[in-house]
Amino acid sequence: MKLLIVYYSTYGNVYHMAELVAEGARQVPGVEPVIRKVPELIPDSVIESRDDMRAGRDAQKDVPLVTKQDFEEAGAFAFGTPTRFGNVSAQLKNQIDQLTSLWLQGKFEGKPAGVFVSTGSLHGGQETTILTLMAPLLHLGMVLVGVPYSVQELFTTTGGGSPYGPGHIAGGDNQRAVDEKEATICRAFGKRLAEIGLKLAK
Ligand SMILES: Cc1cc2nc3c(=O)[nH]c(=O)nc-3n(C[C@H](O)[C@H](O)[C@H](O)COP(=O)(O)O)c2cc1C
Repeated sequence: MKLLIVYYSTYGNVYHMAELVAEGARQVPGVEPVIRKVPELIPDSVIESRDDMRAGRDAQKDVPLVTKQDFEEAGAFAFGTPTRFGNVSAQLKNQIDQLTSLWLQGKFEGKPAGVFVSTGSLHGGQETTILTLMAPLLHLGMVLVGVPYSVQELFTTTGGGSPYGPGHIAGGDNQRAVDEKEATICRAFGKRLAEIGLKLAK
């Protein structure tokens, strides 16, 4: 079963989280994580004018753009986004808004999906972003998956991560690395999505 990890990342933090979600999924025999990015909407001229944006883009240059076939083939889905004013990034939403034909065919019904997120600040909207993005996933017929409290790091994280999904605090300069507790929650989420995907595929 393929677990599609589809994400948008300007500076590279959500990309790093995607790799951690994939690490967790790889622990489950029979599951192949597939990491894909969505098209950028920020003009090239803006990205070229900023060292941090160029570095983020270049770090992801080898990640393929997601295709309709990737969505068709997957048995489970992880959606990754940075927070934009407490909400999902336009880049990821733009991709979701192109799923109409597969939605009308019922391709996503009964398949598990969850959301992971990076914010600049601690109270910058991780939970609003995840919960808001879950609305379209319900429209698509997906079965929502979060992180249960058996993942002990949920009790002690001083960064990101909640029952709604993995989170990361990037800091005002987007340079704060994913810490060990945030990483553990990402891996646990990937493993859980993979296990539930396999069960629902039977
Ligand atoms: C237009 C814009 C809006 C943002 N809104 C928020 C926000 O509401 N809350 C917050 O904590 N961070 C906000 N941020 C910061 C981003 O969430 C942060 O840059 C992101 O987590 C970094 O992830 P990335 O490295 O994958 O791009 C915003 C950034 C931009 C550019």
